Amino acid sequence: MIVAKGVGKSFGGERILSGVDLTFHEGEVVGIVGPGGVGKSLLMKILCGLVEPDEGEVTVFGRSWADLSVTERAKLRERFGMLFQNYALFDFMTVGENVAFPLVQRGDMSAQDVQERVVERLTQVELSGVNHLYSRELSGGMKKRVALARATIGEAPIIIYDDPTAGLDPVTSSKIFNLISDLQRPDSLSLITSHDIERMMPVCQRYIMLYQGGVYFRGTAQEAKQSQDPVLRVFFGGDAVDVGRRTMAGAEGIS
Ligand SMILES: Nc1ncnc2c1ncn2[C@@H]1O[C@H](COP(=O)(O)OP(=O)(O)O)[C@@H](O)[C@H]1O
Ligand SMILES: [Mg+2]
Repeated sequence: MIVAKGVGKSFGGERILSGVDLTFHEGEVVGIVGPGGVGKSLLMKILCGLVEPDEGEVTVFGRSWADLSVTERAKLRERFGMLFQNYALFDFMTVGENVAFPLVQRGDMSAQDVQERVVERLTQVELSGVNHLYSRELSGGMKKRVALARATIGEAPIIIYDDPTAGLDPVTSSKIFNLISDLQRPDSLSLITSHDIERMMPVCQRYIMLYQGGVYFRGTAQEAKQSQDPVLRVFFGGDAVDVGRRTMAGAEGIS
């Protein structure tokens, strides 16, 4: 579904990513992990065509972002559902309007069908009856669930969850990952970035770990834990150790 070849990106002379080769298939749930600031969010934006890489290319359903016109890009982006780390809900819209937004924008459903789908999806994320509220009236966990409903309502074949549990307590985080799992459809591809390996485990089949400017590891959590590499063992096993440029322990400094 998505192929990245030799992807690289720098900002202000600092090389964040280089030589990133990745292939993602239908039906997969893949965890994109690594310490804060390593480039997880950036990679997600490159994959869905929101940021252009300096090097390499990304193809989605066989089409390279670089070859597409603005209109074609917008069309291809409709095949993505996105929950971005700082992609806040629209504060001038109600919960119902926020969740309906991707469907309304696509413009191929009647208002009544949209409403039915919104009610159904809000029930799925355990938020029935809050359609009329505004985001300022919601708790952090509720906002994430609304964002989850909005990211998945279009039943896009590719869903990107960029740090869906950032800033949430462990219990709420577990609930969010459970919901992601419930909302996963057999034929879709989901990419989840997070540092919360423990709670991602029940959801993700395999992982891509970014570290030191590129893909440091790809494989299952089991493979990472059994590895002799201390960095992997720390990251996947949960021991708190400073592994160099960026500390991998604790929530602070990891986003
Ligand atoms: N638009 C941008 N302009 C400048 N620097 C950026 C931009 N986007 C990302 N970066 C930098 O790239 C690095 C990776 O950021 P990010 O992808 O947000 O990391 P992560 O999601 O892994 O925490 C950071 O150093 C960040 O400052
Ligand atoms: Mg991020």
